[in-house]
Amino acid sequence: AQNAKESLYIVSQFAATFFEEQLWNNSEGKAIGLSYFKERGFREDIIKKFNLGYSPDVWDALTQDAVKNKHAEEYLEKTGLSIRNDKGKLYDRFRGRVMFPIHNFTGRVIGFGGRTLKTDKNVPKYVNSPESEIYHKSNVLYGLFHAKKAIRDLDNCYLVEGYADVLSVHQAYIENVVASSGTSLTIEQIRLIGRFTQNVTILYDGDAAGIKASLRGLDMILEEGLNVKVVSFPAGDDPDSYMHKVGAGAFKTYIEDNRQDFILYKANILLAEAGTDPIKRAGIIRDIVESIAKIPDNIKASVFIRECSSLLQIEERVLLSELNTMRAAKF
Ligand code: GTP
Ligand code: MN
Ligand code: MN
Ligand code: MN
Ligand code: MN
Repeated sequence: AQNAKESLYIVSQFAATFFEEQLWNNSEGKAIGLSYFKERGFREDIIKKFNLGYSPDVWDALTQDAVKNKHAEEYLEKTGLSIRNDKGKLYDRFRGRVMFPIHNFTGRVIGFGGRTLKTDKNVPKYVNSPESEIYHKSNVLYGLFHAKKAIRDLDNCYLVEGYADVLSVHQAYIENVVASSGTSLTIEQIRLIGRFTQNVTILYDGDAAGIKASLRGLDMILEEGLNVKVVSFPAGDDPDSYMHKVGAGAFKTYIEDNRQDFILYKANILLAEAGTDPIKRAGIIRDIVESIAKIPDNIKASVFIRECSSLLQIEERVLLSELNTMRAAKF
């Protein structure tokens, strides 16, 4: 089984090299793929650092080249790089897409995300590798291999939604950044971050989906005992679009100046939703205490209760009794 797994790593690396070669040295790849990345404002050093690539817009470019280079069909299928059609013939999963290889945290290629260049709504924007013996989406953070040293050194991990966000944050010389790409954030991914730091800063998209995901994510992070802060972006922007809009320097300043404690972040969102309705406002207090109740450490929880008390103008003892009720209900 160890040998089979090794074969999956080898064919994945072969594919990454193939896609990269297509991007830099093939006329279609250069004209379509490389131009695309450049038009989005990605620097060459970033494109190279993340080994970005291009998959030709034909049925079986990679499959043919891999077979020619003596890679077994079995492994092409098991990694999902090739798919077998009704007639038993293999074709490429990724065609006419810019390619983001996904590395495990030791730096080996385990899968891919491929972004379409079409604007057609019927084409999925991203196609990802399927689960395989070497790629378990729920345990992988995109960018961790390139980020882990900075995460340790800076004792903080920025968490973004997408591949492009990881690249753009790096391009702004902020290297402690990972994405939960291909899945919504999982407990396993949070535990993986926890091996490098106890501090997470969420940088999700400034759209309804991003805000919803950030609220869910922050509760999960608190429950794992990690500290969490949030930076929100203007409606319609994500870290990638915002970085390219304002530039690297202003981006860095923005995230330093707009880092909010999770309570403040959550309170602002919920208060805006509730308006002046007193019943709804009471619901918010309960909702925030619910997040605090997830914090395993009592001393930390009591610090946040105090903050919540001054922020929402509610007596601390009322919040504490609510906290105790919620905690008791968990057992
Ligand atoms: P860009 O348009 O390239 O900037 O992508 P984005 O990362 O901003 O996309 P978005 O905010 O829509 O989605 C965030 C992440 O969710 C992406 O990076 C992908 O990992 C994933 N995702 C988005 N669209 C799809 C899709 O159609 N299929 C799948 N499987 N994943 C997707
Ligand atoms: Mn799995
Ligand atoms: Mn989004
Ligand atoms: Mn986005
Ligand atoms: Mn984006």
